[in-house]
Amino acid sequence: MDPKRKSKVSLFDVVDEATFTTKLNIDDGGTTAHGFDCSNMSPVNRWNGCPYSQRYYDMLQKRTRLPVWHQKREFLKALKDNQVLIIAGETGSGKTTQIPQFVLETIDVESAYKHKRFMVVCTQPHRLAAMSVSCRVAQEMDVTIGEEVGYSVRLDDLISDKTVLMYLTDGMLLREAINDPLLWRYKVIILDEANERSLATDVLLGVLKGVLKKRHDLKLVVISETHKAKKFQNYFFGAPLIKVPGRLHPVEIFYTQEPERDYLEAAIRTVVQIHMCEPPGGILVFLTGEQEIEDACHKITKEVSNMGDEVGPVKVVPLYSTLTPLMLNKIYEPPPSPLTKDGLAGRKIVVSTNIAETSFSIDDIVYVIDPGFAKQKVYNPRVRVESSFVSPISKASAHLRSGCVGRTQRGKCFRLYTEKSFKNDLQPKTYPEILRSNIAHTVLTLKKLGIDDLIHFDFMDPPAPEALMRALEVLNYLGALDDNGNLTKLGEILSEFPLDPHIGKMLVASSKFNCSNEILSISAMLSVPNCFVQPGKAQKASVDKAKARFRHIDGDHLTLLNVYHAYKQNNEDESWCSENFVNYRALKFADNVRHQLACIMIRLNLKLCSTDLNNRDYYTNIRKALLAGYFMQVAHLESKGHYLTMKDNLVVHLHPSNCLDHKPEWVIYNECVLTSKLFIQTVTDVRGQWLVEIAPHYYDLDNFPQCEAKQLLKKIYKKKVETRNKTR
Ligand code: CDP
Ligand code: MG
Repeated sequence: MDPKRKSKVSLFDVVDEATFTTKLNIDDGGTTAHGFDCSNMSPVNRWNGCPYSQRYYDMLQKRTRLPVWHQKREFLKALKDNQVLIIAGETGSGKTTQIPQFVLETIDVESAYKHKRFMVVCTQPHRLAAMSVSCRVAQEMDVTIGEEVGYSVRLDDLISDKTVLMYLTDGMLLREAINDPLLWRYKVIILDEANERSLATDVLLGVLKGVLKKRHDLKLVVISETHKAKKFQNYFFGAPLIKVPGRLHPVEIFYTQEPERDYLEAAIRTVVQIHMCEPPGGILVFLTGEQEIEDACHKITKEVSNMGDEVGPVKVVPLYSTLTPLMLNKIYEPPPSPLTKDGLAGRKIVVSTNIAETSFSIDDIVYVIDPGFAKQKVYNPRVRVESSFVSPISKASAHLRSGCVGRTQRGKCFRLYTEKSFKNDLQPKTYPEILRSNIAHTVLTLKKLGIDDLIHFDFMDPPAPEALMRALEVLNYLGALDDNGNLTKLGEILSEFPLDPHIGKMLVASSKFNCSNEILSISAMLSVPNCFVQPGKAQKASVDKAKARFRHIDGDHLTLLNVYHAYKQNNEDESWCSENFVNYRALKFADNVRHQLACIMIRLNLKLCSTDLNNRDYYTNIRKALLAGYFMQVAHLESKGHYLTMKDNLVVHLHPSNCLDHKPEWVIYNECVLTSKLFIQTVTDVRGQWLVEIAPHYYDLDNFPQCEAKQLLKKIYKKKVETRNKTR
């Protein structure tokens, strides 16, 4: 241990008077080169014993100006006196980056290392936020990311024995609770962005409420956006609420006179107008999805470059959840410099999904464009379909969007809808995810946590009884729960996979069908966003041609396998990907996911194996394993030419993106999407007799609605009995 390390402070003894707030009064007289009075401050970093770098002081100066710094003493005192605390404040006030560091100040270095446990964790609903904010905080603390400060997200982490502060996704903390139900590794848990009410955060709230009763030494800090803080306060029996002052400057809000017919086109037009007519300052545009954002970035860049030197240069930066942290850094970069010495000022334009509403705060944004839409998950338990729709946002969301400006200077928010529509059409708030999701995986997790009575579990907003029943039913059909609702051996195994239980079941079955290597690849490919680059109109022909090279006529799952194999055969080469219109990042991510899943399979003693490629059962085995996971997502081709989903009898159509060269009688599908019609997407040809072979408990005809498929299945069953009798 370095002798120069600062004096020890035991947990929750607030550093009297000498917290950094008072030590680092900005001194315009400049007692030091950094403009701080650092005379009382150790020049040595107590976490790693190294002298502080210049960057540390530069960042510290900025940190002390964040609104949250004014409440540091109040916060530390309240943390000492209470088990649960609620912090509320607007985006950008410094909650995510500073609060965990304040908590760390109360922790003694030596005991932190001696007990070899993470002391402080901070959850994030988005993996990208967890990764990027941990890097930022490591810089602010002047330590190396992955050492004292780390992150852990699904299928990826960067931590060490020395880690004292970990940012992790809420889903990861929930998984930790499975192995360590009282979360002994943690002293202080910070639930950040609780207002977003992600599924995992909602479950964690209930779980932590139970843990806090049993562990009086554990502290919980819930961070929320101002408007929703009261609800958390009530949920935690009136825990104290600390409000961080937010926006300091006025924000002007503009509405359109008439409704816009095409929000995308309107958004791009507004960007260009602002760039032409408004004073310098970054623009933040909210759109709905990755592809739309990439297209918009492309169009904006093109339009601006067509305008020549009439306008300044622009830097257009996308922001969505599947970016890498490195790509994300661009949002914090300054705008481009003018092209010539007296040229027009450059501008940064960030085009983002609703992830920028709260998870990322970009200081130099002055203009926000809010077209009023977002992609939202909707689950209909009656037909077991979870889909993503582009739908109007809520008033709460619109408020968050306009709150993305006005922190460092005056701002303007352009709402691309009418004021009347804002008042009359937008619903007040976005429903929590738990009310809009398929909760099968959540139920599995809760069962694994030993919470059997789900009806009485203390959910902040309980899921609809129907959704709960559906989840129990699905898990029972998968064999994860027995008829009494208890976790089976298979259920225990499925809960080890951080994935939808259908995929888990498919992986478990794949060992028996001698194709687990292939199913691993397919599962990984299903876990990443679209691996094909979506073409603009001009490129469509070449993209289709490239796609045809990977096509497997029996279905999209097998096509995904072909893409993955081709990527590996071509040495994971980035330029090969772009030549073939394959998304390199998606493939790289899939490869990583595959590796992690393979590790889980090995740990669970599930055999990794393949059928010989020349064996004619090679693809049949894979298709059977797919069906073993997805036997509840099967559709039958009716004589009228459309498909009908099994048991639910929904009329569906094959999505035009499919690669089949025929219309199979039976298909399994991965998801339903509703656009002009209800489409089934990612489909593969399966056989009727496999249904009765692999899932006779589900295809039990006594409980089957009348349809053509029922008659066919009846015949298959009959034939099966006949063959059995013959062979006797
Ligand atoms: O959580 P909250 O929205 O209150 O604020 P924060 O995420 O802690 O951000 C505080 C400040 O750090 C803002 O001014 C951000 O722009 C800045 N920041 C940054 O420059 N780079 C990052 N990677 C993260 C935050
Ligand atoms: Mg935050």
